[in-house]
Amino acid sequence: MNVSSMPTLRKVKIAGTGSYLPEKRLTNADLEKLVETNDEWIVQRTGMHERRVAADDQATSDLALEASKKAIESAGLTAQDIDMIMVGTVTPDTVFPSTACILQHKLGARMVPAFDLAAACSGFIYALSMARTQIASGAMNNILVVGAEVLTRVTNYEDRGSCILFGDGAGAAVLTPATDETSYIVDTHMAADGSGGEMLILPGGGSRHPATHETIDQKMHYMVIHGRAVFKEAVSTIVRLVDESLTRCHLQREDIKMVIPHQMNARIIESAASRLDIPMDKIFINLDKYGNTSAATIPIALDEAARQGVIQRGDLIALVTFGGGLTWGSSLIRY
Ligand code: UT7
Repeated sequence: MNVSSMPTLRKVKIAGTGSYLPEKRLTNADLEKLVETNDEWIVQRTGMHERRVAADDQATSDLALEASKKAIESAGLTAQDIDMIMVGTVTPDTVFPSTACILQHKLGARMVPAFDLAAACSGFIYALSMARTQIASGAMNNILVVGAEVLTRVTNYEDRGSCILFGDGAGAAVLTPATDETSYIVDTHMAADGSGGEMLILPGGGSRHPATHETIDQKMHYMVIHGRAVFKEAVSTIVRLVDESLTRCHLQREDIKMVIPHQMNARIIESAASRLDIPMDKIFINLDKYGNTSAATIPIALDEAARQGVIQRGDLIALVTFGGGLTWGSSLIRY
């Protein structure tokens, strides 16, 4: 689904962002003690040096809460102003109630709609896209969009092919009607291909394989990834998404100030950037510090880029993601 220009509808902007990373660090040296791996291999193959790990008493909503408070504050609003809460996550506190409902309560928000969105690494982009149309239609004004994960709780620390990749974190954005022509979301796109579902899967704990002693013994409560296959698919999809969004909006690659890609692997991002002929200094990377936090990577990176002054109001930025589902999505934003 593409939503490029909506002339009869309201324009929508990102009014504020926030992020939160737990204190505890999991370094490559720590991983060397858990599995047969080494710092050189991890850095060369992924670009990652360390990840953050939620404290024992922290669940996804706790991370989401901190990021959301900052996003609401930076939008110049209060929790009372929020008209809807959407949380992109595949590691909710509980299957139900949703993390969004828990977050609503913790924020002290009004009794507005609150729900989780399970689109894995595309959760934030999907939520952004849906929030945009809600505001554009005039149905709502201020929507809190969050990407939050505690992936370390579903990571198998006996599988060296996946445990090196994942970390915990949360990012949030508040969307509001645009007030001028400088800052607005220009384009959003989202799509899925369920035939590739087995490539990234958490097999246990759902209705297919409810939790039993056997599913636990078989470690089905951990993520299983087919990294090589995902790698190839991710590079071509990222390139296609950026090109297609530019074409839809009659813009050129040179118009982009910064690409903020899903932080899955530095080599995937570098390979896509090289095919797009976009220099690496226009690609925002923080996976060296945080690893892959699934739905949280893009809002965390967006918040860091904004707070560091790497992106300024009015700059054209491209968000692009690919992940479990399979799902993918993109957004072009005049920040
Ligand atoms: O956001 C969506 C979720 N993310 C993903 O799905 C990740 C996408 N894929 C990737 O990031 C990369 O494919 C990985 C980082 C997972 C793997 O990198 P790769 O370059 O594709 O390596 P590979 O899987 O082809 O493995 C190459 C070798 C293998 O050994 P042999 O068979 O050549 O002897 C692996 O067993 O590297 C070995 N290997 C490791 N060695 C040291 C795999 N993991 C490790 C490790 N340390 N941690």
